[in-house]
Amino acid sequence: MVLFLWFVTITSLLNARNISAEFQRFEQPTKGDGTVRFLVVGDWGRKGEFNQSRVAYQMGRIGEELDIDFVVSTGDNFYDNGLKGEDDPNFLHSFANIYTAHSLQKQWFSVLGNHDYRGDAVAQLSPFLRKIDTRWLCLRSFVVNAEIGELLFMDTTPFVGKYFTKPGHHKYDWRDVLPVNKYTAQLLNESKARWRIVVGHHPIRSVGHHGDTKELVHRLLPILQANKVDLYVNGHDHCLEHISDNESPLQFLTSGGGSKAWRGDSDKADGLKFFYDGQGFMSVQLTQSHAEIAFYDVFDPMDESLDGSSALRSEHPSPLDEIRRHPGCIES
Ligand SMILES: *[C@@H]1O[C@H](CO)[C@@H](O)[C@H](O)[C@H]1NC(C)=O
Ligand SMILES: *[C@@H]1O[C@H](CO)[C@@H](O)[C@H](O)[C@H]1NC(C)=O
Ligand SMILES: *[C@@H]1O[C@H](CO)[C@@H](O)[C@H](O)[C@H]1NC(C)=O
Repeated sequence: MVLFLWFVTITSLLNARNISAEFQRFEQPTKGDGTVRFLVVGDWGRKGEFNQSRVAYQMGRIGEELDIDFVVSTGDNFYDNGLKGEDDPNFLHSFANIYTAHSLQKQWFSVLGNHDYRGDAVAQLSPFLRKIDTRWLCLRSFVVNAEIGELLFMDTTPFVGKYFTKPGHHKYDWRDVLPVNKYTAQLLNESKARWRIVVGHHPIRSVGHHGDTKELVHRLLPILQANKVDLYVNGHDHCLEHISDNESPLQFLTSGGGSKAWRGDSDKADGLKFFYDGQGFMSVQLTQSHAEIAFYDVFDPMDESLDGSSALRSEHPSPLDEIRRHPGCIES
C-alpha cells in the first residue's frame, strides 16, 4: 500500500511538468508504396523452448511473404525474470540466435513486460544491446512514425497496482520509471497519421487467463477512445485474440503467443471476434484505405531441421483469422 501511494504521488508531480521531450520519436522508413507491414509477437524469450523456435520459424516465412518493414514485441521479452544485466547471454539465446530468418533482420521495436521488470529492466533499454544486435530497440515509451501509421509504445507495467502492493516474492526494478498517461493524450492528439496504433504489454480487454487490466480500462481506454486510436496491441495473455470496442472504432488485439501457451482458461466478452489459446503471432498490413490483421499458429508440420535446409517447402501457414476493415467505419 505504501509503495502504491508513493507511485501515485510521483505520478502527479511528473505529470505537472512538461516531459514530452522524454518521448523519443523514431522515423521508420517504409517501402514508399503507401503500405506498412509488420509482425507482432509477445511473451517469447525462453531459449527456444515451449515452441518459441517454431513461432520464430513461421514468423520468418510470413515475414518473407509479406515483405515486412519491421517487427513489434509486446513485452515479456526474457523469461522468467528479464535480463540479469547488459551481458546476460539470454539476450543471445532467446533473441539474437532465435529470430534468425532473413526476413526478420529488420528493426524490432519492443516494450517491457512485467517479467522484464523482475530483472534488470534498465539493461534492456541499454544502447549496449543494440551494439550486440542492431535490430534491438526497447524503450519505456516512445513513438514510431511509419508514414501512414504512427505507433505509440507505452510502458504499461507501472500502471498495474498489484505489482506495487502485492509483489509477493518478486522484486521489480522501478528505477527511472515514468508515468505516461497524460502525455499519451497529448501525443496522440498531435498525430496526423492515417492509422493510430498503441502498443503495450498488458491488455485493456482480454478473455484470456489474466483478463482485462482494470487500471488501463480506467486510465488509458478513455484517452484512446477520445483520440480515435484504431488499434490497441498487447501481449501478457499467452494467446491470440481480437475484441472490438463497443463505444469506438478501437480494436483490441492480443499477440502473446511467442512461446509458452495453452493456459486452458478463457472467458466470454461482448465484441469478442476471435480467440486462440495457443502459440502464434500476428501480422498487420496497412494501406491508406485498409487495415488487414491476420493471426498465425504454428500447427502446420515443420521440417525436422531449422537450419535452412527446408528451403524447398512451398506451403505456408494460413491465417487463422482475417479482419478487413474499411476506413468508413473508422472515421467518426
Ligand atoms: C512542451 O515542450 C515541447 C518541447 O520543448 C514544446 O514544443 C511544447 O510546446 C511544450 N508544451 C507545453 C504544454 O508546455
Ligand atoms: C507446440 O505446438 C504444437 C502445435 O501447436 C502443440 O501441439 C504442442 O503442445 C506445443 N508444445 C508446447 C510445449 O507448447
Ligand atoms: C487535443 O488538443 C486540443 C488543443 O491542443 C484540446 O483542446 C483537445 O481537448 C485535445 N483533445 C483530446 C481528445 O485530448
